[in-house]
Amino acid sequence: MKTVITDSITEAADFIKAGGVAAFPTETVYGLGANLFDEKAIAKVFEAKGRPADNPLIAHISDPSRIEMLSDEITDTARRFVEAFFPGPLTVVLKKSDKVPLIATAGLDTVAIRMPDFDVALTLIRKCGTPLVAPSANLSGKPSPTNWRAVKEDLEGRIECILKGQTSWFGLESTVVDCSGPRPRLLRQGAVSIEHLREIVPETEFKDASEDDDIRSPGLKYRHYSPKGEVRIIAEGATIEDSEDAAFIGLSQPKAELNRVLVCDSTQTYARSVYEFFRECDRDNILVIYCEAVDETGIGTALMDRIRRAAER
Ligand code: TXA
Ligand code: MG
Repeated sequence: MKTVITDSITEAADFIKAGGVAAFPTETVYGLGANLFDEKAIAKVFEAKGRPADNPLIAHISDPSRIEMLSDEITDTARRFVEAFFPGPLTVVLKKSDKVPLIATAGLDTVAIRMPDFDVALTLIRKCGTPLVAPSANLSGKPSPTNWRAVKEDLEGRIECILKGQTSWFGLESTVVDCSGPRPRLLRQGAVSIEHLREIVPETEFKDASEDDDIRSPGLKYRHYSPKGEVRIIAEGATIEDSEDAAFIGLSQPKAELNRVLVCDSTQTYARSVYEFFRECDRDNILVIYCEAVDETGIGTALMDRIRRAAER
């Protein structure tokens, strides 16, 4: 398949309207979009990514009022989160309506919904005239793409179109909060932190990573965000040996000679850079990637979550 790489939103929308899939930029990471109501197109999304069929997709909308198309049971907590954080890097999970195809939700009776805070994405969704399913636009198991070149690296020849845009400014996937039950439950960390959520709904629960409940949060059981090299988490100032086969990313200058070093000026920049750094290390066949630990506040919590997952083998 030829992949058209374009900066025309209309062209990308035309591919989606014709039943194809097109990658597009958002503020978190690039997504792989298809019409939520087109089961064949959704099947192509799973196929292109090599994604397991039991991992559900997020429905992307361009206006909060569209939630009513997707759920008949909008809980009060969901309304409060939507009011506070849409558009933005927050995904809410609700009981799904019959209109939402089961292939999109991997057979679950819930649907995840998000409104990106990114003009190109919102315009694309509006031009398509339908909510779009959009998983991160990477091959399953690889780090999420934060720029169109990373999408091309993984998916060229496997999808109809890549809509070019700016680099994603958060660089980590959205926060996912399940609002379908009596108390909201944080399922995936992101730029909207548990503290932010509790400011709106104080009784929001935190799903501990060690908890075994794959059914409520199917995506989390898969290996994610992983470069080929071995990720090692180190404390600030830790001693590491000089190596041609090792790389470092963090906030302070390492004391060793390494193949590749990226010192970031803030935790935000670190979060925005880490996935692309992993990809660069893979291109250079780096064997060990040292990631400096950061304080677990704000985006630091989500960043440490992703680094820990990348370090699991
Ligand atoms: O920032 C993002 O959310 C990006 C951009 C493109 O919007 N998308 C993204 O999608 O990260 P994906 O498919 O890579 O991750 C979706 C996550 C998975 O962990 C999945 O299991 C979870 O959301 N999810 C989706 N539907 C769910 C549901 N009904 N219940 C629980 N978790 C759900
Ligand atoms: Mg993903």
